[in-house]
Amino acid sequence: MTDRAVGIDAIEIWTGKCKLDLAETFAPEKGDDPEKYTKGLGLRASSFPDTYEDIVTMAANAAKSLLDREGLAPTDVGRIDVATESAFDNSKPVSTYVAGCLEQVYEGDFRHANKGERKFACVSGTQSVDDAYNWIRAGRNRGRAALVIATDTALYARGDPGEATQGAGAVAMLVDEDPSIVSLSTDQGIGSMDETDFLKPQQQFPSVDGKRSVKVYLARMREALEDYESVSGRVGVEDFRFAPFHTPFPGMVRKAAVLAYRHVTRGTELEEALAPEIGRQPREDAFDDREAFETAMRDYVDALSETSRYREWYEATIEPTIDIGRQVGNWYTGSVHLARASALLSALRNDEDLVGEELLVGSYGSGAQAEIHSETVREGWREGVAAIDLQERLGARYDLSFDEYERIHDTHNHDVESDVEPFTQPANEFVHAGWGRMNERQYEYVE
Ligand code: COA
Repeated sequence: MTDRAVGIDAIEIWTGKCKLDLAETFAPEKGDDPEKYTKGLGLRASSFPDTYEDIVTMAANAAKSLLDREGLAPTDVGRIDVATESAFDNSKPVSTYVAGCLEQVYEGDFRHANKGERKFACVSGTQSVDDAYNWIRAGRNRGRAALVIATDTALYARGDPGEATQGAGAVAMLVDEDPSIVSLSTDQGIGSMDETDFLKPQQQFPSVDGKRSVKVYLARMREALEDYESVSGRVGVEDFRFAPFHTPFPGMVRKAAVLAYRHVTRGTELEEALAPEIGRQPREDAFDDREAFETAMRDYVDALSETSRYREWYEATIEPTIDIGRQVGNWYTGSVHLARASALLSALRNDEDLVGEELLVGSYGSGAQAEIHSETVREGWREGVAAIDLQERLGARYDLSFDEYERIHDTHNHDVESDVEPFTQPANEFVHAGWGRMNERQYEYVE
């Protein structure tokens, strides 16, 4: 059992090497107004995996960058947890493939590291960080760190409304004692119910009830916040420097943020301060029926979202968290971890002093579960975040035409035979190189 702080010590991010521009390329083909994507969903582009990329290559490439940068050997890692909802094997976990890749290029092996794979839609990345945290706090780590990787190819069937929100990438995190970037608190809120909003019953592409998933996200997130407040005390608007939330598309976070703001300001001085402009929040007991109350509440929330007080809070606390999400789409399990990185990168650009500041992190997975916890920014955050090698990789993505997008989508469709040449040239990275005798995927490192 350790009393030392435990949290995220290092982060590395690997984006799929192609991109689909939603306004320029996708919208015209669909006959849509580009602003449906840029303003409505809040997305500019989606990252896509090139022909030789998949969840293993992206995870292994992110992990290798991270281990190289931290100067770590396989024996320094006591655990490899991979979170994904794009697994291609129901038995052998992705973490074994990732370890196999890394063992091709490092001295030593991960023979004594505990490996696993976590599944609960997009919330499993956070659950894996949790598992690593608990393992270290329990004192079972023998001084070793945990490697947690959230990796997904978030692809939808063509023509599905979710098609606009696709994405592909991996976020690798080192969870350790005395972390450099953020420490995690033990306070945690959960909102969890058996829901049918998004699922993949033995199929590659999801069955999605998109509108329902939006409602379920908001409902479970609210329950998680209330549960969090039951252990940490009431949350205040100014308590947290950033609030990174799961970002299936930035418009989702926009909806969640204003509801969260309404919730935490209820019965506070801030509600009174806003009252001359937009009135007080509707109270249910003042209405004869639920429908009238809900209409009044929707009107209040709409008015709240237009106030300068709310806008300023949103610009400062939420907007920086969705900056990367806008450029890459949904990365499922990695998405909330991208949101955290996005906020920290923005603070770095603005030369902010964040040490000791708190983050409120909201994760969500369809099916459905939301989780809320807080994190404290640590002394070494600046160096840790400056080392994330992302901007260059984002800028280097190959810009797909619509026809190329359809071809690459086919390449990654398990039910379609396709033979497409790669759009980019692999260098210093793991690639999917073929299939073995038991139909296992095989990987090699390309110099
Ligand atoms: N200019 C500005 N905004 C526009 C617009 C335009 N020309 N056209 C549409 N919009 C807005 C819509 O009003 C809507 O915003 P709102 O929800 O705030 O009203 C938004 O853009 C999306 O438009 P909508 O018609 O609802 O899109 P859709 O029916 O194609 O699907 C999802 C949206 C989210 C349901 C779909 O992308 C989906 O199924 N995604 C996958 C599931 C998912 O990510 N769920 C989230 C929880 S995990």
